Amino acid sequence: MDVIAPVADMRAWSRQQLTAGRRIAFVPTMGALHRGHISLIEKARTLADAVVVSIYVNPTQFDNPEDLAKYPKTLEADLAMCREAGAAAVWTPETAEMYPDGYCTFVEVVGPLSDKLCAVARPGHFRGVCTVVTKLLAVVRPDVAVFGQKDLQQALIVSRMAGDLNLGTEIVVAPTVRDPDGLAMSSRNRRLSPESRAKALGLPRGLELARQAYRAGQVTSMKLIEIVAEELLVHEGVDIDYCDVVSLKGFAEAEHADDACVLAAAVFVDGVRLIDHVPLAGHAIPVKVD
Ligand code: PAF
Repeated sequence: MDVIAPVADMRAWSRQQLTAGRRIAFVPTMGALHRGHISLIEKARTLADAVVVSIYVNPTQFDNPEDLAKYPKTLEADLAMCREAGAAAVWTPETAEMYPDGYCTFVEVVGPLSDKLCAVARPGHFRGVCTVVTKLLAVVRPDVAVFGQKDLQQALIVSRMAGDLNLGTEIVVAPTVRDPDGLAMSSRNRRLSPESRAKALGLPRGLELARQAYRAGQVTSMKLIEIVAEELLVHEGVDIDYCDVVSLKGFAEAEHADDACVLAAAVFVDGVRLIDHVPLAGHAIPVKVD
């Protein structure tokens, strides 16, 4: 596996692959890799001849400097996991090259995808994501890039952006991976103490209970949101950042849920921000609900 840092070297590596007629699949990450990321690499391997993983904690997508400073960094372990998962190259760009002095170009998706949920809760976040993803794609020039469904809004925005800008990269979305207790895998989970983790389980449990209530006939979004809130707000140190029913048809908030809707939430658990969602017509979240 090649480990590459300079932009010019990454560009040359990709050019070589493309000249040899090899398809490239790309998995962009911010490191602190877990089984969810490995599932993205595995998916990517089924789609191309060579998989490139980027590891870069992108400063422009953090609205909170403390969150950026606390973002876990585990490069050696990450490289070992990428090697094991069969990545052909890992790119670890430097901020000096990504955002040199005087940098002033940003990419933004506007409209319904960007006026709710994480876009409101974290102003500027998706502008940072779109900017860095455009830059990463411009250097790697992959045929396909794989994103995780846990970050649903990100996946939809990046997909839209890649299409709108004719970037020539197909965006593939791979399913959320959960721990056996039902918590969606996230690099941030390693910041949860065992007590915080127990509180965090209220998120998948609340979503699953709401999904079950929807399946039993409850379509009033506010009632579904209340079910999630009841599972979470019983704990001290837990705050709901947002919880909304959104239709995937037009990405509009829905007062009444239907099969095209997802219930999405972001919560702070003892200061750690976690997001998750459930498609209301989808499969059960494997979490204990008694
Ligand atoms: O999902 C992430 O890890 C990041 O938002 C991404 C796509 C790597 C861009 O920095």
